[in-house]
Amino acid sequence: ERPAMIKYGLENIRELLGHKKMSSFSLSSVIYTRSPPSLKILNQLLLPHKTVYESVASVQEGYEQIKQMKVRGAPAIGIVAALSLAVDLLLQSSNPACPFKDQESLKSYVKSSLDHLKSSRPTAVNLFRASDILWNITEKENDVNITIEKLVKEAEKMLIDDIQDNKNIGKLGAEFIAKESQNEKFSVVTHCNTGSLATAEYGTALGIIRSLHSQNKLSHAYFTETRPYNQGARLTAYELINDKIPSTLICDSMVSALLSLNKNIEAIIVGADRVASNGDTANKIGTYQLAITAKYHNIMFIVAAPSTSIDLTIKSGKDIIIEERDGNEIIYVKGIAENENGELEIKKVRLPPEGVKVWNPSFDVTPAELITAIVTEKGVVMKDNGTSEFNLFDFLK
Ligand code: MRU
Repeated sequence: ERPAMIKYGLENIRELLGHKKMSSFSLSSVIYTRSPPSLKILNQLLLPHKTVYESVASVQEGYEQIKQMKVRGAPAIGIVAALSLAVDLLLQSSNPACPFKDQESLKSYVKSSLDHLKSSRPTAVNLFRASDILWNITEKENDVNITIEKLVKEAEKMLIDDIQDNKNIGKLGAEFIAKESQNEKFSVVTHCNTGSLATAEYGTALGIIRSLHSQNKLSHAYFTETRPYNQGARLTAYELINDKIPSTLICDSMVSALLSLNKNIEAIIVGADRVASNGDTANKIGTYQLAITAKYHNIMFIVAAPSTSIDLTIKSGKDIIIEERDGNEIIYVKGIAENENGELEIKKVRLPPEGVKVWNPSFDVTPAELITAIVTEKGVVMKDNGTSEFNLFDFLK
């Protein structure tokens, strides 16, 4: 007989773990309940113009959401992969025609599902880590029902842990920057979207900005539009405006000019998709040039990431696979416009002429040498004096 399913939604899980309803920002990238099994993903391609949640009832649907970047951001990708498997297994196993007759059939299904999910996006390590954890559970178990119960619980734990990890990153990062600063209040720059939409809630780099703001230490947050997918202009803007954080949108090419103006900017804060053992960090394309300009202007360059984004299996950033995306993301821009009936519609318009060649790497690698500190939920890591690399092995030991 199957173990009784505990009935709870995300809010109840928070209560069980003693967390209050967390942020003033209630728009979640993911809405999950175990009973009835349900996973809904906020379609970020339509933001900020439309708020549409899409149901994910299978691994294939989870894969599509990640591949098409309806959900994106390293932690959110890992969580959605795990929860889509959880919901898929819950739905299939509650069906009288359940295909998992024995542990071998379940194992082979979990293996092929995880392999499929891992093929969606190559750079963010969280997806691979989540998959390894789920596979290790499956391999060790002998009983179909117990395996499913454990997989579901683990996927739920990933969602919950990420919220608490982000809260800790926010607190530790804000403390660190404030301690290093000569000023009571200061401004920061950020890139891409690292907020509630990229994680389970609150965010990493944006979590630090939220925390600085709540402590009245933040003068202003400047954020880049983040071409070509415009995570900054569409998503970070949405979150910052919603939280009433004083902020200004700039083009990716304006950061050096901004820093040259002495506007009391203390740090550039970014997230990470994969951090190698030496601290080299893959993050959204454009991050590397921000680190160079931070060094030139003598301000801190902070990477904020949960320890689940650190990949101790690779020595340096040279081993990180950089995803290249469809060139149409550069060729076309999407926005909202009136149609002939005066209704608002999402429209795509072409920028360059036909026949143009484009290169669209989605990430770049910032060398550890350029990074001041890596803020994780477990603490803030710096390089030993005189060294140009971090020792993340020792830090995570
Ligand atoms: O291509 P995306 O939008 O998935 O890329 C996201 C980023 O690069 C983020 O900065 C990173 O994942 C950190 S999110 C907390």
